[in-house]
Amino acid sequence: MELLCNARPHASVPDRYVFPPEKRAVLQLDDDGVTLPVVDLHRAALSGDDGLRQRVAAEIVRAGKDFGFFQVVNHGVGEDVVRGFRDAASEFFAMPAEKKLPYCSSDQSKPFRLATSTTYDRGETRYWLDYLKLQCHPVTDELVQHWPAEPTSFRPRLAEFSEAVHDLAQTLLRLVAEGLGLSAGFFAGDLSGGDTQMNVNYYPPCPDPSLTLGLLPHCDRHLLTVLSQGDVAGLQARHIGRWLLVRPVPGALVINFGHQMEIVTNGALASVEHRAVTNSDRTRMSVATLIMPKMECRIGPAPEMVDEATNPAKFREFVFSEFMEAYYTAAASREDVLESFRIHEN
Ligand code: OGA
Ligand code: NI
Repeated sequence: MELLCNARPHASVPDRYVFPPEKRAVLQLDDDGVTLPVVDLHRAALSGDDGLRQRVAAEIVRAGKDFGFFQVVNHGVGEDVVRGFRDAASEFFAMPAEKKLPYCSSDQSKPFRLATSTTYDRGETRYWLDYLKLQCHPVTDELVQHWPAEPTSFRPRLAEFSEAVHDLAQTLLRLVAEGLGLSAGFFAGDLSGGDTQMNVNYYPPCPDPSLTLGLLPHCDRHLLTVLSQGDVAGLQARHIGRWLLVRPVPGALVINFGHQMEIVTNGALASVEHRAVTNSDRTRMSVATLIMPKMECRIGPAPEMVDEATNPAKFREFVFSEFMEAYYTAAASREDVLESFRIHEN
C-alpha cells in the first residue's frame, strides 16, 4: 500500500490524485461572513441548573436545524486528553512504513486498520489522505489488543479519549432529546449503543490543493459525529447550496448529525454533506468519532416527530445493518443513500 505519510514530499500532484475540474474544491469560499454556531456547553448546564440546561438544549437544536453542523466549547473533554491522543496518533503516522505495514488493510471488518485514499467512491481518482479506521468503544481488554502497541502512548491515550468523547456524545444526545421535546433517555440504549467507530484522517501537505480533494463530499451514516480537527482548517460543510469552511476554534469540537438522526427526527435534524480540502503548508489531522446504533436496532421516524396530518413519516422503518449496506452501494452520496429509505407522497 502506497501511504502518503511515508512518501517523499511531492513536488507536484501525481495524475492519479488530480480530479476533473467539476469535482475540484473551491478554496476561496465566498461565505458572506456566515460562520457556524459555537455552542458553549457550560459544563454546569449538565448538572443542576434546569434553566441553563434548557437554554443550551434549545441552542443545540437551533444550530442543528439551521446548519446541521456546529462547534462546542466547554464540552468537558479535557484539553490534555485531546492533545494526548492527537500526539499519539501523529506519532503513529510518523513511524517508518515497515512498522505500519502489518496494519494496512482494506478489509472493512477489521477493528483496526490503516489505509490510504477512501473507498466509498469507486472512482479512479484518489483522495489526498491516509486514515485509520478503528473501533474505539466500548473499551474492552479484547478490543485494546487490536490497537497498536507502538507508540506506547497509543493505547492508554486512545482509551482515555474514547471514554471522554463517549461521555460527551451521551450528554449531547440528552440535550438534543430535551431540545426536541423527547424524553431525556430517548437516544440512549440501542440507538447509540453500537460499537463506536473512529476515523483518524491524515492529510499531508499537498503541492497544489486546487487540483485535489482530501475527502469526498459525504454525509455520515451514523447518529452523531464528534470531530477534533485541530488548528488546521480544511473541513467544509454544505449550507444552502454552498460550502462553508468550519473555522478552527481553539479547544472546540465539531458536531454533526448523521443519517440516522435525520431519519429518527423525521427530517428535523438533517445530516449535512461535508468534505475536506487539502492545503500546501501543513499536515492536517482530524479525529472523527462516530456514534452509531446497534446493527440489529430498528430505526424509523420517532412517533413523537410524526404527525399524520401535518408532518407524515418521511422514511420507512428498517434495521440498521440494512442501511450500512445501502451506504456502501450508494457510495456515500446523500440522496442516493436516503432514496431507498424515503417514503414518497403521492
Ligand atoms: C469523516 C469526516 C472530516 C475531516 O471522517 O467522516 O468527515 O475534517 N472528516 O477530516
Ligand atoms: Ni464525515
